Amino acid sequence: MGIVVGVTSTPTSAPTMPGTPLSLYILGEKSDPLSERGVECPGDLPPASDPALVERARRAKAALGDRLFILGHHYQRDEVIQFADVTGDSFKLAREAAARPNAESIVFCGVHFMAESADILTADHQKVILPDLAAGCSMADMARLAQVEDAWDVLADAGVADATVPVTYMNSSADIKAFCGKHGGVVCTSSNAKAVLDWAYRRGQKVLFLPDQHLGRNTAVLQMGMRLDDCVLYDPRRQNGGLTEEQLQAAKMILWKGHCSVHGRFTPQAVDDVRTRIPGVQVLVHPECQHEVVLKSDLIGSTEFILQTIEKAPAGSKWAVGTELNLVKRLAMNHPDKEIVFLEQHVCYCATMNRIDLPHLVWALENLAQGHVVNQIVVDQETEHYAREALQRMLELPGETAKD
Ligand code: 13P
Ligand code: SF4
Repeated sequence: MGIVVGVTSTPTSAPTMPGTPLSLYILGEKSDPLSERGVECPGDLPPASDPALVERARRAKAALGDRLFILGHHYQRDEVIQFADVTGDSFKLAREAAARPNAESIVFCGVHFMAESADILTADHQKVILPDLAAGCSMADMARLAQVEDAWDVLADAGVADATVPVTYMNSSADIKAFCGKHGGVVCTSSNAKAVLDWAYRRGQKVLFLPDQHLGRNTAVLQMGMRLDDCVLYDPRRQNGGLTEEQLQAAKMILWKGHCSVHGRFTPQAVDDVRTRIPGVQVLVHPECQHEVVLKSDLIGSTEFILQTIEKAPAGSKWAVGTELNLVKRLAMNHPDKEIVFLEQHVCYCATMNRIDLPHLVWALENLAQGHVVNQIVVDQETEHYAREALQRMLELPGETAKD
């Protein structure tokens, strides 16, 4: 069975130059007018980056030897992931960072909040480096410390703060993790959200879940047996979060109004469409997707779960995967015996994950090899202390995969 990434090609009304057939290539494999708008470049297209960079990265990595450890999130580009000593989702990478006390430098090929977590979990003499400081996360940016402190005051005024345990998704800044640590809360990832929420509800009657409303709602309703009515949405842009005291008092789950700008774009319509287009397809999505999408899907789980599900799947099986495109592309390339399509035609790569490219990696490695530390991520001591408490509480719990 051939590799299919994105929808299969059908004629569309995509604009074409008069007399020029428009070839649209998805991932360099197939013409795919519905998935990617591009134009043909006749002749020899130069490589995207200087081919010498691969050799330079190899040389710098070899020169650094055991002093260096490179972590790569599954959403990273292939050109970068090939240099990772270990790949994983954010949960696995947090554990891996904590388990490398001998590496002097940890280069994190991922985004800023992951590098912060690695800095928090490693010893003071270890340096964590993010090859491009612009690799942030729009979801993490949706919860600012001042907003969360205001929200806590709103909860206190409603008389519910003492009964509430703050839980933050790994995809949040270090100061939000520290806020949770300070207030008896904890961090979770998409791999262990249920185990973490079980822990939280043993300590309080309510949870303030930051910053991803979708992971919070999907876990509460699909894994913890709550009703949608048990959840309320706290909007930091509105007075008192847009909620009354009565609503806060009645709620079991107070969801922060944040979302992933990649996963939040998959639609229920895309699930219907792919089922029509590919009879027998199984839909496999990340829990950062909207609840309505998850309800229509067959399987839901973290990036690591998605990867393992595809690895274990029999040859000939058909999958529509709703997660970041770099990972879906890699899955399709690595499993040519299975039909793997990208769930939604309107979803792009994660722009911030993609900031880490080979030129930035080479720059960071070569500087390290010459004794210069560039783009070090340093979390201040007080933030680190409390954020570590919240992270440690999570790491002491067993990792779990989501609903299947
Ligand atoms: P996980 O790595 O926990 O699956 O999170 C996905 C994600 O969006 C990371 O940015
Ligand atoms: Fe943030 Fe979503 Fe990108 Fe992950 S995929 S880094 S959550 S924007």
